[in-house]
Amino acid sequence: MATGNWTRVSEFILMSFSSLPTEIQSLLFLAFLVIYLVTLMGNSLIILVTLGDPMLHSPMYFFLRNLSFLEIGFTLAIVPKMLETLLAQDTTISFLGCATQMYFLFFFGVNECFLLATMAYDRYVAICSPLHYPVIMNQRTCAKLVAISWSPGFPLGIVQTTWLFSFPFCGNNKVNHFFCDSPPVLRLVCADTALFEIYAIVGTILIVMIPCLLILCSYMHIAAAILKIPSAKGKNKAFSTCSSHLLVVSLFYVSLSLTYFRPKSNNSPESKKMLSLSYTVVTPMLNPIIYSLRNKEVKNALSRTFHKALALRNCTP
Ligand SMILES: *[C@@H]1O[C@H](CO)[C@@H](O)[C@H](O)[C@H]1NC(C)=O
Repeated sequence: MATGNWTRVSEFILMSFSSLPTEIQSLLFLAFLVIYLVTLMGNSLIILVTLGDPMLHSPMYFFLRNLSFLEIGFTLAIVPKMLETLLAQDTTISFLGCATQMYFLFFFGVNECFLLATMAYDRYVAICSPLHYPVIMNQRTCAKLVAISWSPGFPLGIVQTTWLFSFPFCGNNKVNHFFCDSPPVLRLVCADTALFEIYAIVGTILIVMIPCLLILCSYMHIAAAILKIPSAKGKNKAFSTCSSHLLVVSLFYVSLSLTYFRPKSNNSPESKKMLSLSYTVVTPMLNPIIYSLRNKEVKNALSRTFHKALALRNCTP
């Protein structure tokens, strides 16, 4: 057989937004840079405040801190490289770099799905059995739940990445995306990928469906419990403790399903790129904002921290 018609690919080219004029790309660079800095600051602030403020030493904020940590990792895997492709004309990424990026994307993405489910369970216990909450959600259980949420990402990421990157690539190395996501990389493979595709579809559905069902289940119980509360004030109070999480979960799942579960016909690479921006760039920025604006406890903790910081500054000569 002809062996000469496939050359080993040693690097990939991220097409990113190269179809757009350079001025637009510079504008996008600025916009994404600002969004990214806000994301890093917001999530770091959540980590610092939930660590430092004794009022926020409850399971809910323990999980929130871990979510912020995860968001920082997730965006770190994608955004700096994307910013580079917008600014520099050289948009190559090494073979290993592309595989590593895909692994981390999977790792953080899968873990985020499960961590969001854990947070829903936490809200379920808090609202449906408030008296037993401190006993059920003790420190050990919380640590275990977080460890469980962080475990499916590793094996799934390894299998997906090593399988995909062991396929032969023939010459064409242009990834039509701003990061090494698996559908655009899969398009460059020149071998029969049917089995892999089945695995990827089933895997994605399970990864998204299992946590999603757990979340729905938790919220159905929560809704039933809230409806049973007689006073409107009590209803509001119970709802306010889970509204931020509900908003964050909805944003995450809506943007994810818009990107990955759409009929093939209206799935042009350009529209897919735009949609991917929602969960790679926008939601990680919104999460800390949602939690700090909608949540009195976080707002109070933030203002206490600022006052402390100001007081410290005034004391130093
Ligand atoms: C979040 O949980 C993981 C896994 O248990 C742990 O390695 C990490 O340090 C945690 N991060 C924060 C900020 O608590």
